[in-house]
Amino acid sequence: MEETVVNETLLGKLVAEARHARANAYAPYSNYRVGSAILTAKGAIYTGCNVENASYGACLCAERNAIGKMVAAGDSKPIACAVVTGGKAPGSPCGICRQVLVEFTRDMPVVLVAETPTGDVRRDTSLAELMPDVFELDTSD
Ligand code: THU
Repeated sequence: MEETVVNETLLGKLVAEARHARANAYAPYSNYRVGSAILTAKGAIYTGCNVENASYGACLCAERNAIGKMVAAGDSKPIACAVVTGGKAPGSPCGICRQVLVEFTRDMPVVLVAETPTGDVRRDTSLAELMPDVFELDTSD
């Protein structure tokens, strides 16, 4: 099967899907709603939103929610990621989410978008830029 090539049309679709997932965010404690979408090599898109909890430590980030759906669907090769947040500037994935993303790929385009009252603020980055010097598990000794 042909591998999907990331282009601006697909990135735009990914942002739209992340925006859609953000609308379903469960964030009654922070009111900070996040949506995420992950595109994989076979052209599938998996979305996630943040899911908060009264026991704050149990909160789930949007990016990890999308990764969980990808794995549950039997897919494993992310090639692009979009994250849509509120705020004046786009939110950047937290450290735990970066660690979870690099489990499946070392690099991919990451599009971060803040939905503001005056329109979108977009920042294009990459996983390699966000997460250099990745931890390697070496159990050989
Ligand atoms: N959050 C995400 O969904 N993704 C991140 O990368 C950072 C933070 C969520 C978790 C929590 O529900 C809210 O944002 C505030 O931290």
